[in-house]
Amino acid sequence: MINLGTIGTNWITERMLEAATTIGAYRLQAVYSRHSATAAQFAHDHAGQRSYTNLTDFFNDEQVDTVYIASPNSLHFQQILQALRHHKNVIVEKPAVLSPYQLQMILDEQARQPDLQVLEAARNVHMPAFKAVEQQLATWDHVEGAEFNFSQYSSRYDQVLAGELPNVFNRKFGGGVLTDLGIYPIYDAVALFGVPQQQFYYPTWIKTGVDGKGTARLEYDGFTVILNFSKISFSNQASEIYGGRQLITIDNAGEFTQADYFTGKEQQQLSPAYRDNPMIPEMTDFAALLEQPNTRIAKERGNRERQLMKQVNQVLDRLAASAGISYPQ
Ligand SMILES: NC(=O)c1ccc[n+]([C@@H]2O[C@H](COP(=O)([O-])OP(=O)(O)OC[C@H]3O[C@@H](n4cnc5c(N)ncnc54)[C@H](OP(=O)(O)O)[C@@H]3O)[C@@H](O)[C@H]2O)c1
Repeated sequence: MINLGTIGTNWITERMLEAATTIGAYRLQAVYSRHSATAAQFAHDHAGQRSYTNLTDFFNDEQVDTVYIASPNSLHFQQILQALRHHKNVIVEKPAVLSPYQLQMILDEQARQPDLQVLEAARNVHMPAFKAVEQQLATWDHVEGAEFNFSQYSSRYDQVLAGELPNVFNRKFGGGVLTDLGIYPIYDAVALFGVPQQQFYYPTWIKTGVDGKGTARLEYDGFTVILNFSKISFSNQASEIYGGRQLITIDNAGEFTQADYFTGKEQQQLSPAYRDNPMIPEMTDFAALLEQPNTRIAKERGNRERQLMKQVNQVLDRLAASAGISYPQ
């Protein structure tokens, strides 16, 4: 059994716990919140054993072996470091951290304790449809291009329009659409095609000073990948990967619930529509790593997770730099 401690009491932690309970490999031990009533209520609602308002006390809880972090982005770095220094595994919401420097500090700390895992919760690349696309692409001799789309109007943008400053649109917390939604299509592109040779980001600014919508162009050897993402508008535009007569369509680059394959007029479903809690696939993959960390397969998968996290972090950093965005360090 994996013994969890959680940071952040918003809906995403609840959804993660629902997935964890469904899988049956996790048990909630401890809850941290800045507010004692929130911490106690959250622990009560999710059968957690203990609740804390002091982070050091939380990290000192010896029953916790794995910390799930779902706090505002700019807090992740220190919380991951603290968790590792208290010898805990980490599952951290995307984006894990906000610069290659921060990530290197984290990876150096992890390397000193190689039995620990640091896992970035990029759920799209754990979906069955993503794995089916990976397998299909492995049979292709070339790719001519791809477009990944992920746009969801955010109810928090209504708050911005009403003059408020929610964390997700606050530069101080590493907010903006590139870190919040853009990271999903970046994961798609980097996991499927590797690190691009060049990358450019074209943001649409909103009045809080962050990017609310954007397009990124990733230049690979012989083809281009376009990423479109937005928190200030909706889109139902599917995503596509194409090469010669072959075409893969994906319903949504962030959700990755369904993928289809076309050759000329033939169509084949690569993966049936996924309708369950979208955190189940990633939490299942993570459980396999956390339960048996010392097997050869777990070590290889852990290395792959860290390498992908590093590559995505690098691309995100370069895209931000290309648009003059710098995140708090
Ligand atoms: N995987 C997904 O589908 C998904 C979906 C949504 C969000 N996320 C990720 O999850 C993380 C949290 O996002 P969110 O939208 O839930 O963020 P949020 O609502 O701004 O904050 C999350 C939690 O952090 C604590 N918090 C809020 N403001 C804080 C502050 N100023 N200082 C310290 N703690 C603060 C709150 O918990 P307490 O009040 O209990 O301390 C809150 O419940 C982000 O990294 C985001 O990218 C992932």
